[in-house]
Amino acid sequence: MSYDAYGDLEVLHLSDLPDPKLAPSAVLVEVRSASVNPVDWKLMGGGLDGLMDVVFPVVPGWDAAGVVVATGPDVPELAVGDEVLTYARKDLVQGGTYAEKLAVPAVSVARKPAAMSWDEAGGLPLAGLTALRMVELLEVGSDDVVLVHGASGGVGHLAVQIAAALGARVVGTASERNHDFLRDLGAEPVVYGEGLEDRVRALAPEGATVVLDTVGGVLEQTLAVLAEDGRHASITDPTVEEHGGRWVWVRPDAAALGRLTAVVERGQLRVEVQQSFPLEQTADAVRLSQGGHVRGKVALRVTEG
Ligand SMILES: NC(=O)c1ccc[n+]([C@@H]2O[C@H](COP(=O)([O-])OP(=O)(O)OC[C@H]3O[C@@H](n4cnc5c(N)ncnc54)[C@H](OP(=O)(O)O)[C@@H]3O)[C@@H](O)[C@H]2O)c1
Repeated sequence: MSYDAYGDLEVLHLSDLPDPKLAPSAVLVEVRSASVNPVDWKLMGGGLDGLMDVVFPVVPGWDAAGVVVATGPDVPELAVGDEVLTYARKDLVQGGTYAEKLAVPAVSVARKPAAMSWDEAGGLPLAGLTALRMVELLEVGSDDVVLVHGASGGVGHLAVQIAAALGARVVGTASERNHDFLRDLGAEPVVYGEGLEDRVRALAPEGATVVLDTVGGVLEQTLAVLAEDGRHASITDPTVEEHGGRWVWVRPDAAALGRLTAVVERGQLRVEVQQSFPLEQTADAVRLSQGGHVRGKVALRVTEG
């Protein structure tokens, strides 16, 4: 799946491109499943043009799970046939994961936990690394009360589980229809919007010691619910830095991906896949993500094993 110019869904089309070249420290992965992330359509619409260089045609997609089909000469740690997952963002945006073949640096790759389905594994890297990065940067621990804004989304539902696995008490915002889902993940649900401070303080009168924002536009509420000396971070609002918060960007990191898959293997982290689409229906999958109310992740099935 590729596009030749910035635009909306109409620019997406299937194309027959040459296999990507394999650099010495890279692996070639046959992609089984890729996941849709909001950044895919933000980038496609030209919204990241000031930040990242692209080379058209762009194959979108930044994370995937699949099987190694070739290794560069400097990749002794992986072999043909290995099942892997990857956060495959590159500095120059071109050959992404919505494709049968993906060349990716070995430093962006980890082994896929055997118990995960392809769609679950493909949905973990970007959202999971983002959630882990926030939790690790703020040093979340068992003494914390953590509020997650957007707890039912791709990043949010993983942040809830990672914080809960560390022993923190977690409160999450979501619309009512997702409250049972949040309870299953280990969070106490509250609806978002006006009055959030009162709802959070009704559960935690001293406030939240940590707030993780995956939504944006909630800084005022964050500051209102934050306990004294509380820590906060956002992945959507750089202005948090002006108010003592951390502005967090995810980055490819195989070691962090390994820490994430370890939590999966301990049975403390799972990926919710709301819907899976064949690659041919990428536009439908992206449209669903654009709607802003996906529960967990949207997957794209690319090749069958
Ligand atoms: N900085 C980074 O490195 C980084 C990394 C990953 C993502 N991001 C950004 O972070 C954002 C979230 O990404 P994502 O993949 O988690 O998105 P997503 O999966 O599309 O998020 C959808 C979720 O957002 C919830 N939601 C919508 N409006 C809300 C509101 N006002 N308050 C609380 N929850 C609300 C929905 O819950 P309901 O259906 O219950 O309403 C839904 O579960 C995107 O803007 C993305 O681009 C940044």
